[in-house]
Amino acid sequence: MGGFVKLKKRGANYLGLCPFHNEKTPSFTVSPSKEIYKCFGCGRSGNTISFLMEHEKFSYVEALKWLSNRYNVEVEETELSPEVKIQQQTADSLYILNAFAQKFFSGVLHNTEEGQNIGLSYLQERGFDAAVIEKFQLGYNPSAPDAFASDAIAAQYNPDLLQKSGLVVMRDGRPMDNYRGRIIFPIHSPIGKIAGFGARVIRNNDRSPKYINTPENEIYVKSKLLYGSYFARQAIDKADECLLVEGYTDVVALHQAGIENVVASGGTSLTPDQLRLIKKYTSNLTIIYDGDAAGIKAAQRGMDLAFEESLQVKLVLIPGQEDPDSYVKKIGAAAFRDFVTSNKKDFILFQLETSLAAAAGDSNQKARLVSQIAETISRINKAEDFTRQQDYIRRSSELLKIDENGLNTLVNKFIRERVGKYESKTAPKESAVETEQTEKIFLDEELDELLNRDEQQERAIIRSLLEFGLRKWDEEKTVAEYLMPELEDKEMFDNKNLYSVLDLYKAWYEQKLEPTARNFLYHEDQSLGALVVSIMDFPYEVSENWKTHYEGKIPTREELYLEEVGSTLTYLKLRKIQRLMIMNQKDLEKSRNPDEQMMFMQTHLHLKQMEKELMGRSGTVIVKI
Ligand code: CTP
Ligand code: MN
Repeated sequence: MGGFVKLKKRGANYLGLCPFHNEKTPSFTVSPSKEIYKCFGCGRSGNTISFLMEHEKFSYVEALKWLSNRYNVEVEETELSPEVKIQQQTADSLYILNAFAQKFFSGVLHNTEEGQNIGLSYLQERGFDAAVIEKFQLGYNPSAPDAFASDAIAAQYNPDLLQKSGLVVMRDGRPMDNYRGRIIFPIHSPIGKIAGFGARVIRNNDRSPKYINTPENEIYVKSKLLYGSYFARQAIDKADECLLVEGYTDVVALHQAGIENVVASGGTSLTPDQLRLIKKYTSNLTIIYDGDAAGIKAAQRGMDLAFEESLQVKLVLIPGQEDPDSYVKKIGAAAFRDFVTSNKKDFILFQLETSLAAAAGDSNQKARLVSQIAETISRINKAEDFTRQQDYIRRSSELLKIDENGLNTLVNKFIRERVGKYESKTAPKESAVETEQTEKIFLDEELDELLNRDEQQERAIIRSLLEFGLRKWDEEKTVAEYLMPELEDKEMFDNKNLYSVLDLYKAWYEQKLEPTARNFLYHEDQSLGALVVSIMDFPYEVSENWKTHYEGKIPTREELYLEEVGSTLTYLKLRKIQRLMIMNQKDLEKSRNPDEQMMFMQTHLHLKQMEKELMGRSGTVIVKI
């Protein structure tokens, strides 16, 4: 990092001006011993690899290669199975072929008579300017039967590869261009290599499809690609929002209008991989579709997933027969931006509105709808989304014209059903009967706070595991062996990413690989690495003053690890139980049904008993706040 940032030694760490934000006093700190950096100004943190990925916009593998090259470290590549090797070679060859094809198609578009008269003039007629044609590397495939194929064969590309790429098809045993007479849209991978092509006819007619796309192969995996992702990533990052449109032309037109945080799905519903790709840059997704039913249907599928990933999904419908491409050209860039900003609808509420209209007073259908929406809302059970959940409950109950409290109870029921799975596994067999006289009524803010604090406990336990997992717990077990079964239940974790860390930890542990924090830092999924950095202590210096006064008297976390592991686990469990108690309490307050009230009260006793046991185990009854 010293090669990119001027660093000064400060105690055990190095300090410099942060390269990721503007600052006058240095807050960018590098710890050589932990192999991490953290900026105390903007909060960015990571390791050598994430630094290079962020600063130099490298991919993971590019960062590794750069480092190995710079420091003359030989990168040992895992011995691949012959099948995987062949697959990788094919992938490499396909990328090379696609790059060759792109140059060919662009060359034809700009430098041949047919390209200019048919291809270029078509693009110009549609209003695309030279800069954007250049940027997206658009091209044209001549109408002659094998203009590209013969060039490619002359350049020694093998016919099997040509077919695999979809650029060439065999007709009567002879190679023919697949995209004859079409405009070519190269489809870039997120790091800018050409994975495939979309080829559009010049004149719409019924006999041939409007687009021919690359068939699935080693590098063109439609479910993992989003058109435009490579050109949009920085803009998405900056705007903290990703716009999603349907067509290639929509992406290109919006770029030309200066709106660059946009990708296209190619008209199909979003896949989990595509959502993850978006989630890397932002959690705000705005879908811009034309108002026809097909588009909305496509958007609806996959939305539960988006919801669970905590993506905030908004919808903008383009009026009339327009699509984003024609609409932005009609009303101009500024008006288009305004239109998007002021016409964003919440996707869930939009869905509710449309289904409600479709139900048209049918009370059975409405009842089903109420339960459906409660289910959906209950999926927002992450701590940070608590107010969002309340907001949905309020607005949905307005739309449905039902009691807000009733909907709230129903949502809680769904949450409890999910959390309940955790409770039933950990509950003691005999529940003691004991009455508690007065119970505290919790305010919403308290609940909110408590929900948030859960995550602290979750982080703490993962930190203990990472730092002390390989040490001895008792004569038979390591700390990891003690903790892992205790943390088995997914519901223990609100932050599912922390659960992913745990999952990987287990896998590494079982395979006798070293599940240390350091190895997480260098994991290919840098979001895991970043999470681990954020939960680890940044090393600080004990000042000289302290050292002389308290020589040898300050016990470190290291020395007290057994205590730390034990109490961290207890606190985590306590939190979960206390949370269940609060939720249960709230339901009890609302319930008007005696049987139901009885059930809530029994649940309460049951939880109280569990709490008591845990408190006893932790020795002290001080709950760490
Ligand atoms: N699409 C496709 N195959 C088709 C039709 C459409 O793959 N036969 C995909 C393409 O990715 C296309 C998207 O669906 O970009 C949206 O379709 P459409 O709106 O018809 O195409 P546009 O790209 O908007 O093209 P144009 O504006 O030229 O009509
Ligand atoms: Mn269009």
